[in-house]
Amino acid sequence: MSTATLAAQAPDYIRRISPYVGGKPIDELARELGLDPSTIVKLASNENPRGPSPRAVAAVAQAAAEITRYPDGNAYALKQALAARLGVEAGQIVLGNGSNDVLELITHAFLRVGDEAVYAEHAFAVYAMATQARGASGVVVPARDYGHDLAAMLAAVTPRTRVLFVANPNNPTGTWITPEALERFIAAVPANVVVVLDEAYNEYLEAAQQAHATQWIARHPNLVVSRSFSKAYGLAALRIGYGVMDPAVAELVNRVRQPFNVNALAQAAALAALADTGYVEESRRLNRDGLAQLGAGLARLGVAALPSHGNFVLVKVGDAMKVYGALLRQGVIVRPVANYGLPEWLRVTVGLPQENERFLGALATALRT
Ligand SMILES: Cc1ncc(COP(=O)(O)O)c(C=O)c1O
Repeated sequence: MSTATLAAQAPDYIRRISPYVGGKPIDELARELGLDPSTIVKLASNENPRGPSPRAVAAVAQAAAEITRYPDGNAYALKQALAARLGVEAGQIVLGNGSNDVLELITHAFLRVGDEAVYAEHAFAVYAMATQARGASGVVVPARDYGHDLAAMLAAVTPRTRVLFVANPNNPTGTWITPEALERFIAAVPANVVVVLDEAYNEYLEAAQQAHATQWIARHPNLVVSRSFSKAYGLAALRIGYGVMDPAVAELVNRVRQPFNVNALAQAAALAALADTGYVEESRRLNRDGLAQLGAGLARLGVAALPSHGNFVLVKVGDAMKVYGALLRQGVIVRPVANYGLPEWLRVTVGLPQENERFLGALATALRT
């Protein structure tokens, strides 16, 4: 059987999935353009530009001595620390190989072929991918002012809906929903629909804006809150995130989780990063200043941008692929978002001050060409 014929054996809902397109790696651009990688600025994957917490790096070095052993599949120490921090039971936490894994596990546990999952237009791409991979249908609710239209999302729920995704803040638009509006919404969703509240960028919100949604689970057992160590905690390469949910939901989700889905180095690093509250605080401050720097620079260039609550900003440049290419040629990597239905926009991660400046200068040049 030819490989093409073999591929045709896969379910059509798998063959219809559009592959995820990530940010271009620095080394790839360096190879393509013959550039020194150290001269390239990557603002394409919403990574923490500060580098990891030294405490996390030290924890990885120490844990490296034990890599002949399987990790603790139940991540006892990390779950205890997270439970204490969040005021939940350890049994409410499911760890993931990145929070993407948690999103997938939820679809694995709850979606059958023919079910529906509801999410917003311009919402994070993995909701669609994870839904399609189960043979379920994604119901895409048109955005309102680039953000989630919660009333319309509620109206989109049908008897076939099993899962509903909300990203707060949302990637790539940076839009944000107030805690009050969010809880009102969750209370209105039928109790048999799992609401996944994706808070990958939660730590970038100011304290007064943060929802403390993990505390709502006692009132709304259909709520799952997912968080990431890839962003403000600076551990993207290690792939670790978590979901907080009702213990009965966690018990179910753990059945479809690979026993050792989170490796030992990631667990050790996350435990250390969680304790380094100063690092997260400084990351939030740097991000706030960087957003202001980018906002002011873009305004000077007369370029429109959406107000953002994440560690990135969506910038309207017109012919985005042309501008993207012109930025690449100057050694600056950002992210095109046509696959999010935003062909005139580029998403730019907040970098260090000098990286933001470099982007602004390169953008000015790119827009002249
Ligand atoms: C909204 C949102 N959710 C989840 C993720 C997944 O992050 P990770 O799997 O690295 O935890 C991302 C990553 O970009 C994101 O933007």
